[in-house]
Amino acid sequence: MTDIQALERQILDAIAGASDEASLETVRVAALGKKGSISDLLKSLGGMGADERKAKGPVFNTLRDRVAAAIADRKRALEAAALDARLATERVDITLPVRPEPVGTVHPVSQVFEEIIAIFADLGFSIAEGPDVEYDDYNFTKLNIPPDHPARQMQATFFVARQADLSRHVLRTHTSPVQVRTMLKQAPPIRIISPGRTYRVDSDATHSPMFHQYEGLVVDEVTNLGHLKWVLEEFYKAFFEVESVELRARPSFFPFTEPSVEWDLRCDRSGGQIKFGTGNDWLELAGSGMVNPRVLENCGIDSTKYQGYAFGGGIDRLAMLKYGIPDIRSFFESDLRWLRAYGFAALDIPTLDGGLSR
Ligand code: DAH
Repeated sequence: MTDIQALERQILDAIAGASDEASLETVRVAALGKKGSISDLLKSLGGMGADERKAKGPVFNTLRDRVAAAIADRKRALEAAALDARLATERVDITLPVRPEPVGTVHPVSQVFEEIIAIFADLGFSIAEGPDVEYDDYNFTKLNIPPDHPARQMQATFFVARQADLSRHVLRTHTSPVQVRTMLKQAPPIRIISPGRTYRVDSDATHSPMFHQYEGLVVDEVTNLGHLKWVLEEFYKAFFEVESVELRARPSFFPFTEPSVEWDLRCDRSGGQIKFGTGNDWLELAGSGMVNPRVLENCGIDSTKYQGYAFGGGIDRLAMLKYGIPDIRSFFESDLRWLRAYGFAALDIPTLDGGLSR
């Protein structure tokens, strides 16, 4: 018996001394594994006489149970200690900001898109969209620019491969085809604004082959140039974040409007910086006019009952003026230093009540 007690003592000491789960497993295998010391004892019962087996069987079994229980206890203690150690070393401060370095910025053109949308939404306009690849018919013909019209040459067009019916799609040269799309699917009253991408074969400091325009269209039973002027004044005031603006109308020509008017905004360029609402300079900003009755009819709208006004202008130009960006090409260079300097915080969404640009 003393041998058994000594063996138990020795195994229990080894269990207590196991400092991790791997060394505890070694102790377990040495005692309870196939060739372990306790397993050997249990096996030896088979070779004993009945009386001896009766006497030693319970002793060996008890020994096995006590050792197994001690191993299980130690295992739980080691697991808990290992978890505590991991929790201590892998501790994360969840109150820290996700990324300590500055995050991405909103491109000035996207910013101006959002500003335009915020202002016109406030004036009761809804947003309309059209595709960049457009039917020749919508980009030109329905807008009263028939196939041989010289106005087509003024808009150096990117053409897409001929279709099966020999018609050609184009990369839209202006956002005006969104007028067509809107009138074809919606009955008056119509009041939409459509900022989007446009394309022309042109490239220098103030022109880019891909650029951005916004288009406005209002069709109702009574509309006139006075309404148009008021809408543009409200827009420029809100956009340039000034108390008042002054617009000058110049007669112009667009095939899709009659009469056609271009608008200049009074500004002051004397101090090296441009100011709006004062000064003796004029800045060309938008083309517009009363929608040509032919365009209304081309789009299925009764021109004896309805009339409308339309306007359109460049978004890149607005962004350059408002944010003091000298060269349009820098918009499209994806230079991170430039984006960090001119970009806007991603979560500062322009609103009229919260401030457009801060
Ligand atoms: N589409 C014209 C352009 O790209 C701009 C324009 C002029 C739009 C007059 C209009 C408009 O809606 O009425 O130059």
